[in-house]
Amino acid sequence: MASIKDKLLAIGTALAYPQVRLKPAITKEHFSGKWVLVTGASHGIGRALTEKLIDADANVFLIARSEAELQCLCDRAKQRGNRADYCAIDLRNREKLELLCQKLKETLPQLDYFFCNAGKSIHRKITDALDRLHDYDRTIDLNYRALVALSLALLPALKASKGSIIYSSSVSTLYPMAPGWSAYHASKSAANTWCETANSEFAPLGIRVQIAYLPLVHTAMSDVNERYQQLPAYYPADAANILLRLAIRKGKRYQPWWAKLSAPIAYLFAPIVHLFYKRMV
Ligand SMILES: NC(=O)c1ccc[n+]([C@@H]2O[C@H](COP(=O)([O-])OP(=O)(O)OC[C@H]3O[C@@H](n4cnc5c(N)ncnc54)[C@H](OP(=O)(O)O)[C@@H]3O)[C@@H](O)[C@H]2O)c1
Repeated sequence: MASIKDKLLAIGTALAYPQVRLKPAITKEHFSGKWVLVTGASHGIGRALTEKLIDADANVFLIARSEAELQCLCDRAKQRGNRADYCAIDLRNREKLELLCQKLKETLPQLDYFFCNAGKSIHRKITDALDRLHDYDRTIDLNYRALVALSLALLPALKASKGSIIYSSSVSTLYPMAPGWSAYHASKSAANTWCETANSEFAPLGIRVQIAYLPLVHTAMSDVNERYQQLPAYYPADAANILLRLAIRKGKRYQPWWAKLSAPIAYLFAPIVHLFYKRMV
């Protein structure tokens, strides 16, 4: 029989991570025949998102490093009679990214949705990274620079179809910055800032820029941290529904209900939060 502690944990999990329902028929209604570009399509959240888009009969352009996975997804889309293409690329490689941007400008006249989802997290204290400047290069290049480079290249195609950019950010960037995450949070926060600015600037062009401040999702990225494997979290299919619902509902951002309440309080009590952080290091 479940103990009281287990029952409380189950209730807490259900409250913090409520089910994210999205009927396949609604997804199909919105995405069928649309052109959608997804980065980080090979694994985790991006893969779950891509599978749902393919099932909804969207035309997809997929980006990540793992060619076999991208090829497989494209074959699946084509078997359904949809158009699909991919580019296997390390988005941190600036020369190759430039070539991809050129190709996209020339070959993609219209784009309805750009899900900018590829990302990398690093958990390391700054004092442990004294000879690891590349940690900062890697995260800024993938989590921020690739978003900007691809968005600039895709702007004409997005403008042509009054499309949307949807960025996979992290709810942790809404709180006072926790120790150990300087590289990840700096790059994600830079991307948030860019998206906020772009949303205002692109509005007259009919382009929306939306940010999904995702909470913990069990994927290869988060499960690297053993502690996170035990924590309640969403699964990639839930996160994919969050991204799709954000795109469908056209809101400016998604954040969990508890972040709306607790993030402002955390800033109000920032000195106490920082005392807690100092004890953590
Ligand atoms: N999981 C979470 O708890 C969580 C929470 C908040 C926000 N997020 C955000 O959600 C997004 C997806 O994360 P995830 O948890 O699904 O991670 P994941 O399972 O590790 O997947 C990351 C995806 O990005 C691609 N990628 C990684 N490095 C790349 C590179 N250098 N060039 C091109 N593609 C690259 C990966 O494909 P290849 O390996 O094939 O390149 C993979 O498809 C990230 O932006 C992350 O910051 C995640």
